[in-house]
This record gives sequence, C-alpha cells and structure tokens, in this order.
Amino acid sequence: MATEMALVKPISKFSTSSPIFSNSRYGKFTTIRMSSTSQSTTKAAAKGGKKAAKTAIKETLLTPRFYTTDFDEMEALFNTEINKNLNQSEFEALLQEFKTDYNQTHFVRNKEFKEAADKIDGPLRQIFVEFLERSCTAEFSGFLLYKELGRRLKKTNPVVAEIFSLMSRDEARHAGFLNKGLSDFNLALDLGFLTKARKYTFFKPKFIFYATYLSEKIGYWRYITIYRHLKENPEYQCYPIFKYFENWCQDENRHGDFFSALLKAQPQFLNDWKAKLWSRFFCLSVYVTMYLNDCQRTAFYEGIGLDTKEFDMHVIIETNRTTARIFPAVLDVENPEFKRRLDKMVEINEQLLAVGETSDIPLVKNLKRIPLIAALASELLATYLMPPIESGSVDFAEFEPQLVY
Ligand SMILES: [Fe+2]
Ligand SMILES: [Fe+2]
Repeated sequence: MATEMALVKPISKFSTSSPIFSNSRYGKFTTIRMSSTSQSTTKAAAKGGKKAAKTAIKETLLTPRFYTTDFDEMEALFNTEINKNLNQSEFEALLQEFKTDYNQTHFVRNKEFKEAADKIDGPLRQIFVEFLERSCTAEFSGFLLYKELGRRLKKTNPVVAEIFSLMSRDEARHAGFLNKGLSDFNLALDLGFLTKARKYTFFKPKFIFYATYLSEKIGYWRYITIYRHLKENPEYQCYPIFKYFENWCQDENRHGDFFSALLKAQPQFLNDWKAKLWSRFFCLSVYVTMYLNDCQRTAFYEGIGLDTKEFDMHVIIETNRTTARIFPAVLDVENPEFKRRLDKMVEINEQLLAVGETSDIPLVKNLKRIPLIAALASELLATYLMPPIESGSVDFAEFEPQLVY
C-alpha cells in the first residue's frame, strides 16, 4: 500500500532519488547514470567524483517515478466523435496561450551560477546537488510523459496533442536548466540513460489526470513560495536558480490549468462517489509523499532559511485550496489533526529509516519493519478517513442529458 502512495512526480519538483555516479566521464564531469539513495556516492561526486562508483540501486517507497499510461484509452477520451464534452474552443484558447511561449527567453544563464556554486561547500553542497538532480529528474519525467501524449494524440485530437507537445517543450527546458545547474557542480545527469534504464509506473488515464494535476499545482506553490521567501530574505539567496522561479512557476500553473480543462472534459472522473474517493486518495498520497520526503531533507530548506514543516504546510494548504476548485472532494488539511498525523508519520518513517541503517541481517530488519509499516498504514488510513471537504465548482448540469418535452 505504501508503495502505491509514492505516486508523485510532483512532489516532485524537488524530489526524485539520489544518483549513482558512474565512472564514465566527459571532461571533468561526472555523469550521473541511475538512481539510488546512497549519500556517500553523492558526496563523492559532489567533491568532483574522484571515487565515484556504482552502488546498488535502492529505490525507496518515496522514490518518484516515470509514468506511462493506456494510450489507446487516452485516444478514446480525446476523440471528439466519442466525447461530446470536449470543449474545443477552450482547448484552442489554451493552445494559443502555450504558443505565445512567455518563457522563451527566460532561461538564460549567467556567470553568477558557477560563482555561487563554487561558494557552496560543506554539507549544503551535497544537498544542493541532490536538489538539482531530483528536480531535474522530476521535470524530465513530465517531459517524457507529455511528449508521448503529444505524439499519440496527434491524429485523434491535434489541438490537445499540440498542447501536450508544447508542455513537453516547457518541461525539457526546465530539466535542461537544472541539468546546466548540475554542471556548476561538475556533474551532469545522463537523461538518455535515465529514459531507458528507469522503471515506468503504469497509471490508467484517470489516475494520470489526478496525479499530474496535483503535481503541477503543488510544483507551482513550491516554486512561488520559495521565490517569495527569498525575495523577502535575500541573504539566503545562495544560488541564482531561485530567481528564475517566478516565471518558471507560471509554466507549472498553466500546465495545471490545462489538466483542469482536461478533467472538466471528462466529467465521469469528477462527478461520482468513486471520483471523490480517488480525489482524496491522490491528495493524501501527494501531500504525504512530499512531507516525508522534505522532512528527510530539512538541511536544504534550512539552508535557504525556511522551516521545512511550515513551508510544506503552507504549500499543502494552498495546493488543497486550488485543488478544491476542480476535485469533487479534498482533505481537510487545515484541521490540526491532519498535521498531527503527518508529524506522526514522519516519526514512524524515521524509525523505518533507522532500521535500514542498522547492521542487522535482512530477516531481522524486516521483522522490525512490520509493526512500523502497520503503524504507518494505520496513520494513513486514519488521515484518509478524516471527514473530507466536499468541493468542486464544475457545473455538471450542462453535461447531463437533457430531457426534451
Ligand atoms: Fe516543469
Ligand atoms: Fe509542469
């Protein structure tokens, strides 16, 4: 069950797994090939990769994924002959917006980057590398999914297909910019290798819609919150990438709005009791994954002057309010019980991580994990079952068959 909870690319904006650094290099660069959670390899490569070596891949429950879906079903959903709810004029307006390409000239680097990177040392340097690499992988995951959707929907719905292609353009730009950031630390993510080597998680289209909508909106709130915080507290502005977040997050916001339009065009994903249960499930999985991930990396948030839990709660509350405009039900995240339960999950997760660090044999470790996993599952269930907030503002009446007298 917990594996199922780790659905989020979003959490994504700053979260994927830590890398394995291969021995292969070009120039003074170390190429990052795969994912693991070995901090030692990150450290080694952050120092210049002198002793970088492959270690076993260790995907954790919270490792974000690459996604794939049922493209035939997607085609049927966007076939205007089959689905009469598709509001083509709305999609055409969105397409014009994407074609405008507001950020075409936004992602231009300058010499501040390398200079700033050279000044970051100690534990913060390692955590910065991890941040860039996670963010890059997360953006790249969006690129791959949107690119494939753009390709597969071309014949059935060229307008929607083109929007997907333009969103993949945005994500490629974001991933590329982050990868350039890694070059400031003498590293580079091998994205071609990542494309082939990583496992892809299959989601049915409706789950792709819920997860990706949340992913984009939570990404927006993360970026804008960091941007605003650093604008007010420039003494923590230790690396210039954050200055780009204001326009950058508008891309994510537009992507989210597109998914909102997609969901409205599929009222069956929003208007029944199952939709409510799934909406709550996806909110829970996205929020919990982010909270647990970030609480393992407080050094990063503290390094830029943020309180990790406060930051996360702000992002969760704002994302939830935004999401309530389209999802038929959301969690009551502003109820203090919600945060209490999240904090409990952090404690249990820390105990789980501690078990992994011990020198016990695998069998003993697994035995020790059983009660902890049960406790985590019961916290998750209790949080899921908290009285939800009925939400959504889509007027479904227009989608319902009209009685003709
Ligand atoms: Fe992005
Ligand atoms: Fe995006």
